[in-house]
Amino acid sequence: MTNYTDDPDLYDNRMRLMSIDSSGDSDLIQCIKNLNPINLYEVGCGTGILTQKVAKLNFELIASDVNPSFLIQSKKRCSNVQFKLHDAVETPIDENIDVVFCRFVYHHIKNEDKVKFLRNLGNARNIVILDYFIPEGDTGLRIFHDYRLNIFQGNDNLINLEKDTMHLAFKKEGEFKVSLNEFYEHLRKSGLTIKYHKLIEPQEIGNPELLGMHLFVLGGKKNV
Ligand SMILES: C[S@@+](CC[C@H](N)C(=O)[O-])C[C@H]1O[C@@H](n2cnc3c(N)ncnc32)[C@H](O)[C@@H]1O
Repeated sequence: MTNYTDDPDLYDNRMRLMSIDSSGDSDLIQCIKNLNPINLYEVGCGTGILTQKVAKLNFELIASDVNPSFLIQSKKRCSNVQFKLHDAVETPIDENIDVVFCRFVYHHIKNEDKVKFLRNLGNARNIVILDYFIPEGDTGLRIFHDYRLNIFQGNDNLINLEKDTMHLAFKKEGEFKVSLNEFYEHLRKSGLTIKYHKLIEPQEIGNPELLGMHLFVLGGKKNV
């Protein structure tokens, strides 16, 4: 099976169908505005779906990704953005960045690299992360995907996409979602602090710590 994060067309197609994945964008953009940045740096911009929305704010924006084929696609979407090939596990962010942000990148970083990744982002003054988290424990991944398969009932396209992602996650091929407690431990080890946290969706579950899309604003090393 092709991993959808290796193929820009597959990724775009997936995002077009999964409108649920855009539900945190407006909160993320509001967080960026509230931070009054001079410059912004996106890590893992992918095909530029979020980049083009953030570019409308008219801040100085650099968007980066580790995959050159994704950068080619994102350049077609945005004009007033500087693009850069950057592996954020290997190379730290420039120290003069006000806000670094990433959407759905953290869960594609291998668990053993996550602290290094956060430390590299921590050079910026503020870090905004939007991502999915799973329940604690061995069954967490299963509970997360069962929940989503249930809400997608009746839509074969969404069910098939979710099953593909689930299979990649179980095989540990490019999908490495963690629980919030694991994320908090990574933050502690990387020396970053939580300035703001919001559960984006699902709002209807009783325990917001259980699973879902969460938005974080973190203080970087200079902000601690
Ligand atoms: C699920 S896509 C998200 C793309 C985009 N942020 C969005 O929300 O549409 C994950 C992206 O993270 C990128 N990525 C994965 N590991 C990375 C790393 N070490 N450094 C920079 N980008 C990375 C992938 O190439 C891919 O484009």
